[in-house]
Amino acid sequence: MHPADIRERIKGSVGKEILYFEKVGSTNALAMDIAEKVTDGTVVLADSQEKGKGRLGRIWLSPPGVNVYLSVILKPALTSRDAALLTFMAAVAGAHALRRTSGLEVRIKWPNDLVVSERKLGGILTETKIERQRILVAVIGIGLNVNMDIDAFPEDLLHTATSVKIETGRIFSREMIIAEILNEMDRWYTELKGKKREILLHEWQRLTSTLGRHVTALVGKEAYTGLADSVDDEGRLIIRLPSGRTRKISSGDITILR
Ligand code: BTN
Repeated sequence: MHPADIRERIKGSVGKEILYFEKVGSTNALAMDIAEKVTDGTVVLADSQEKGKGRLGRIWLSPPGVNVYLSVILKPALTSRDAALLTFMAAVAGAHALRRTSGLEVRIKWPNDLVVSERKLGGILTETKIERQRILVAVIGIGLNVNMDIDAFPEDLLHTATSVKIETGRIFSREMIIAEILNEMDRWYTELKGKKREILLHEWQRLTSTLGRHVTALVGKEAYTGLADSVDDEGRLIIRLPSGRTRKISSGDITILR
């Protein structure tokens, strides 16, 4: 990985400062540790992670030389209710950047998976430090499978995960993809700070593959099956059950049925 190739493409404040490491435990954990000492928009980037963190306490597979693992440190003047908007922002930025560089029709699966034909290309993990309902620090971790081959995935991910290379048959410059993501994030971060959250929510809705589909949501041990109706402005998924009642889901896994 050549961070200088990323730096020369950066246009705004997100990614103006990039801290690059060949190997870390987790870019999110490291970013949280240093967050107070760095400026808004600083990025922690690594070629590999030994303890990559996924959602819901899972492990994020992070081998060297092929993929993207980065964390953006933000210090927005937002309240804890707005934390979901930051994740939406990263998902929209990731989808735009991947569409532009690879030509793939990347979509967002609730809450924030980047998918191509229902297979997962990337994920986002946002962690926040909150005091008196204000976000002091948000660390937005983005993991993307770029040049990973099918045989590098473990058995249990074979049918649900993919990479840009598997989908296109081509190898991509990780530096170019990263620069696109950071520039896109800068653009949406500026919109958010200008209180233009509707534009962001609208874009998320345009890019999602979840709304209007029949889904089963697994929340802990409970399963809810129904129509994925909408998301509210805190990022919760509203499912319309066959009884006509609705359920709001703030975390969990969904399976798209048809
Ligand atoms: C998910 O489970 O879908 C979220 C995966 C997030 C993975 C990224 S890789 C960079 C950053 N550092 C981590 O430890 N996790 C996130």
